[in-house]
Amino acid sequence: MAVDNFEEKINILEKEAKKAISQAPDLAQLEKIRIKYLGRKGEFNNLIKELPKISEESKAHIGRRLNSVRNDLEALIDERLHKLKDKIIEEKFRNEEIDVSMPGRGLSLGHLHPLTKVERRIEDIFQSMGFSVVFGPEIESEYYNFDALNISKDHPARDMQDTFWLRQKTANPKSQILNSKNRLLLRTHTSPMQVRYMEKNNPPLRIIVPGRVYRHEATDASHEIQFHQIEGLMVDKSISLANLKAVFEEFFKKFFEKKKVEVRLRPGYFPFVEPGIEVDIRLSQTSKWLEVAGAGMVHPKVFEAADYIPGQWQGFAFGVGLERLTMLCYGINDIRFFYSSDFRFLKQF
Ligand code: FA5
Repeated sequence: MAVDNFEEKINILEKEAKKAISQAPDLAQLEKIRIKYLGRKGEFNNLIKELPKISEESKAHIGRRLNSVRNDLEALIDERLHKLKDKIIEEKFRNEEIDVSMPGRGLSLGHLHPLTKVERRIEDIFQSMGFSVVFGPEIESEYYNFDALNISKDHPARDMQDTFWLRQKTANPKSQILNSKNRLLLRTHTSPMQVRYMEKNNPPLRIIVPGRVYRHEATDASHEIQFHQIEGLMVDKSISLANLKAVFEEFFKKFFEKKKVEVRLRPGYFPFVEPGIEVDIRLSQTSKWLEVAGAGMVHPKVFEAADYIPGQWQGFAFGVGLERLTMLCYGINDIRFFYSSDFRFLKQF
C-alpha cells in the first residue's frame, strides 16, 4: 500500500475521532467512542494490522505517526472525561442547590421524663446522706407485700391498698397449693423491700428503694392506678423519730432548694410501724396540704420477719409518693398528666 494512502487513512481517523471525542455528550458515549477507535478491535488497531503492507523504509515514520495519534487521542479522551465529570457535579450542585438562608432542620433530641428527673434528684440527695439505692421486684408475693409487714389476711389494712392479683395456673393444682409465699400480686407499695433487704443484710443499714407500685383504685387529680414510691429504711442501735424528722427536714430543704416548705407530721396508721405518721407538705400558706409520705418506727414484728432481734435494733421507715413530690416541684395540678403521653406537657421539662 502506498504511504500517502496510509497517511491519508490515519489523518481521516484522527480527524473523525477528535471530532467524535470533542462532541461526546456523556460518559457512556465517550466510552463507546473510545472502544470504537482505540479498543482492542477498534479502528486504530485495524490500521496497525495493515502496517506490514507498507514499505520497510516508511514503517518507522508511519509507526511514530500512529503512536503520536494514539497518545493525542488518549489525552483528548482523558480531558473530555474530566470535563464531563465536572459537568455532572456542576449539574448536581445546580439541582440540589442549598438555600443557606433557610432555617435549619433541628434534630429533635429526647429528654428524661419529669418523674425520672425527680427520682434521680431524690436518689442523689439520699446518697449524699449515706443511703444506698436498691431495687425490688414489681411482681411480689403476698407474703412480702402483706404478711411479713404484719398485715394479716383479715386485716382491714389490706383494703387500704386494693390489690391487683395475678391469675396463676399451677401445673397440677393438687401438687402445688398456693400459699402466701407463692401467691403473686403487683406490689401495692415499696415496703416489701424492707423485709427482703433485711433478710439478706445485717444492720446498721440505710437504704432507699425507688420503684413502681400498683393499686386497683379510682383515679383522680392526685391518685393513679400505677405510681411510684420511694421507700426509706434506716436501722441502727438507737434510732428515734427525731432522726426520721431530721432526715425529712434535710431532704426537703435540699429538694425544694430556695422554696420555703412547710412540713406537717400527723399520726397515721400502718401495721408495719409503731408509731406511724403521715407527712404532709405545702409550699405556700394559701395552697392545700398534700400528703406525700407515710412513715414511722419499724414495728417489732417486721424485725422478727427479717430474723433481727427486735430489742436490739431500732429503725425508721418511710414511703414517699414520687408523683406527688414532682407535682409540688413543678406546680403540676393533675397526676394524670404524667402518663398521658401528651407532648405539650412533656416538652415543658
Ligand atoms: C404506704 O404505701 C406505705 N407503704 C408507706 C410507709 C412506708 C409507711 C414505710 C410507713 C413506713 P400510703 O398508702 O399512704 O403508704 O402511700 C404512701 C404515699 O404514696 C402517699 O403519701 C402518697 O404520696 C403516695 N400515694 C398513695 N396512693 C397513691 C396513688 N393512688 N397515686 C399516687 N400517689 C399515691
